[in-house]
Amino acid sequence: MSVKSKLYEGKAKILYSTSEESVLLADFKDDATAFNAQKRGSIKNKGSINCRISTKIFQYLANKGIKTHFIDSPAPNQMLVKAVKILPLEVVVRNIAAGSLCKQTGLTLGTVLSEPLVEFYYKNDDLGDPLLTRDRLRLLDLATPEQVETIAHLALQIDRLLIDFFRRCNITLVDFKLEFGLNSQAELILADEISPDTCRLWDNSIETDTENNLDSRVLDKDRFRRDLGKVEDAYEEVLKRVLSKLDGE
Ligand code: C5P
Repeated sequence: MSVKSKLYEGKAKILYSTSEESVLLADFKDDATAFNAQKRGSIKNKGSINCRISTKIFQYLANKGIKTHFIDSPAPNQMLVKAVKILPLEVVVRNIAAGSLCKQTGLTLGTVLSEPLVEFYYKNDDLGDPLLTRDRLRLLDLATPEQVETIAHLALQIDRLLIDFFRRCNITLVDFKLEFGLNSQAELILADEISPDTCRLWDNSIETDTENNLDSRVLDKDRFRRDLGKVEDAYEEVLKRVLSKLDGE
C-alpha cells in the first residue's frame, strides 16, 4: 500500500489517502492547541506518544467488542485507519467534575459524579464547539435520534472499559472525548484518538487530600492548558504505564 495525497490537516493530525480507497493514514503531530486554538505550542514527541497510547487503547477496545477505525500502526506516529464519514460531534463522558463542567455549573473540581455524564458538543470551530441538547441535535440534523442513542450507549460502555484499563495503570479516568464515524455500511464506529490530549487522567500514586492541590496528579493536556509544567513527562508517564500494564493483553 502506498500513501497518495494529503486530504486534511487538523490541529493534531494530518490525514492522507492511500492506494486503498477505504484506508487512510493518520500522521500524529507534536503541535498542541487549546481553547479553540487560541493557545498554541508543541509537546516534544507528543505525536508518537499519543499514537502509541491510542493504538494500545483501540486494540484493547477491539478485543472487548468495540468497533473502531484502527487497522494498524506502521510507525510510532502513524496509524492506518478505516475511512469513515466523521459525525460533527464531540462526545464527552465525565466521571469526575473538571474543566468546562465546573466552569459552567459551579461544581467543585474533583466532585465524583453519582453516574457518568454523557454530553454532545457541536464540532464547529467557528462556533466554539457549543454544548448541544438532544433537541438541538435533532434541530440541526447532526445525527438521527437512533444514532444519538447508539452513541450514548457506546460511550458509556467505552467509559466502563476505559475506567478499568486506566485503573490498572494506577490512573483515574476523570473525563474524555470521543468521535464517531459512519463506515461504508453506515455502521457507527469509534474514530479519532484516545490519548492524554483527549482524556483527563489523574495519577493515583500521588496522595492528595482536600487541603492539597489536585494539580500534582494531572497527567494530561491540562498541564499544557493551564501551564502546570512537566507536560512531556506526564505524557511519557502515561505511555510507560499503558505499555507496561497492558502489553500481552
Ligand atoms: O473542556 P472540557 O471540560 O469540556 O473537556 C472535557 C474532556 O474532553 C477533556 O478530557 C478534554 O481533554 C476533552 N476535549 C477534547 N477536545 C475538545 C474538547 C474537550 O479532547 N475539543
